Amino acid sequence: MTGSVTVIANTLPEDVKLLQRPFQEDSAFAHFVVNATDADDVASMRKALSTRKFCVPVHELRSSSRGEPFRVIVGSNASELSMPEVALFPNHAHQTYAGAASLRKTTMLSLRRIRTAWIVGTIPCAAALSASCGMVPGDGMGNMHGRLPAAEVIAPAPWPGSLSVPTVADDNPDPNVVEVSLRAAPTEVEYVPGRRTQAWAYNGSVPGPTIRAKVGDEIIVHFSNRLPEPTTIHWHGVRVPSSMDGTVMMQQPVQPGSTFDYRFKALDAGTFWYHPHIRSDVQVDKGLYGTIVIDEPNEPAIPAVADEIVVLDDVLVDGPSGSPMSTGMGGMMGMGMGGGMRMGQEGNFILVDGARANVELAVRAGEVRRWRFVNTANARFFRLALSGGTMIRIGSDAGLLARPHAVSEILLVNGQREDVLVSVNQSGTTAVLQALPYARAMGMTSSGPIHLIRLVANTEPAATPPALPDPLRNVTAPAQPVKARSLRLGERMSHGGWVFTINGAAYPNVPVIDSSVGDAETWQIVNETEMDHPFHLHGFFFWVPSGKEWRDTVNIPANATVALQPYFDPRPGAGGSWAYHCHILEHAEAGMMGEVRVR
Ligand code: C2O
Ligand code: CU
Repeated sequence: MTGSVTVIANTLPEDVKLLQRPFQEDSAFAHFVVNATDADDVASMRKALSTRKFCVPVHELRSSSRGEPFRVIVGSNASELSMPEVALFPNHAHQTYAGAASLRKTTMLSLRRIRTAWIVGTIPCAAALSASCGMVPGDGMGNMHGRLPAAEVIAPAPWPGSLSVPTVADDNPDPNVVEVSLRAAPTEVEYVPGRRTQAWAYNGSVPGPTIRAKVGDEIIVHFSNRLPEPTTIHWHGVRVPSSMDGTVMMQQPVQPGSTFDYRFKALDAGTFWYHPHIRSDVQVDKGLYGTIVIDEPNEPAIPAVADEIVVLDDVLVDGPSGSPMSTGMGGMMGMGMGGGMRMGQEGNFILVDGARANVELAVRAGEVRRWRFVNTANARFFRLALSGGTMIRIGSDAGLLARPHAVSEILLVNGQREDVLVSVNQSGTTAVLQALPYARAMGMTSSGPIHLIRLVANTEPAATPPALPDPLRNVTAPAQPVKARSLRLGERMSHGGWVFTINGAAYPNVPVIDSSVGDAETWQIVNETEMDHPFHLHGFFFWVPSGKEWRDTVNIPANATVALQPYFDPRPGAGGSWAYHCHILEHAEAGMMGEVRVR
């Protein structure tokens, strides 16, 4: 069967400038820069979109930055569509389309603005034109049943460096008290070498400085807000008292120019992180995040030559200039929660510990390093694999696992942590930590593999891998759950934007869950959407029966149900209101959040 490719742009074809060749390993897409002109006819564009069949749907219509030309991303999943004809159009877009039959002026819808658009042309392609190939009426560009955007990820050349994140100074001489100061303020960072960009950061660095403590320590954080807007700090994964949790359910926002002291006890060993809980989609994206590492002197020693934090994030940089774009304009891209934001914001420039990806470390084969992965990205999932090396999982959100085990890959969703031991297999070779493609929504095209870290082994004979403690820890399931609940994750269109829902309602209208201190419960998280949602609960860990481990964040795949067993452990401050939400920050801000009131 033969289908067709329709390219929509809002200029005449002569002005369409190709930004990128369309073919990557498993996806085909092209970018066009088009000039935006205001216009008025939403209905006709909607109609055009609903009546046309797009073999290669327009994934996204977005401005490359505020007020600049729009970028149209046209793409498809090559594994489903084989389209030799399409190979022609990116290289000769103008020629191909100049003679195209229909040049029809019409309009495109975005959340806040209406743009004039042209349907530039149609070319045939040899592909099955399935039901999943068309735009869905009224879906405002974020076509669920068609393909979703493959971010055009910039691949920096390998560069020699290290994995380093600053540690915040402990101002208190008491060995059992860690007293630090954190200040959130606008600053300039250099994501792309030689190019300064505006960011918001804790103590001037992205990631913010690591807070390092040991189990039993008292942690005091003198926080000062020098941002132009209110903020709070949430201690993701740390079992803090509810009043210290940083949600507006329990705390007044810290106003610009004001301060707040957070105080809590380090109860669990592991890797945690901190970030704002007000307008988190914007504030985290601008650079406000840092890690917390809690050690437990009584845990078995992990024989590693290095203990490194690997914070993974992505930002959006302007392709042609390479300079980072100021993100988080409350739906930059001119799309608000519609269209592009429906999937949450993915960047095109990957950050490893706040620096460009593809950093190269000089190592010896067989030598073991401990990496603590943290995914702080708004929406990007990292499906991690170490080619040419060995990766052994030893911990996750809630600290050490019961036993170490070798893995070929790890899916690290937003908010999660994973502790692994890595090594290069053979001397004189390089192992590459890669982010493999992962379709987190039905039909989504995904870029990759993306090179994140290279371990370059010297020619010394490989070191003998050390024996690992096994078991690592005694891990047990919670007591018999006393209550069963089910939470349905959904989405719907409302006033031209997407609203994400729990049991049909958007926060703050999601019915409050009442639970009791000391109880374990079973929550069935039913994902009724066609995209994955990483589910996070504040203040308590939940047991994931399928994985037999404790976590605070877990992926709920599209159209799937995952059972969790939160345990509302008794401790000072366990009572109160706690948030749970999707950790794709745009989704949390667009309604996919609820409150559990623990008494
Ligand atoms: Cu890391 Cu409520 O989130
Ligand atoms: Cu979500």
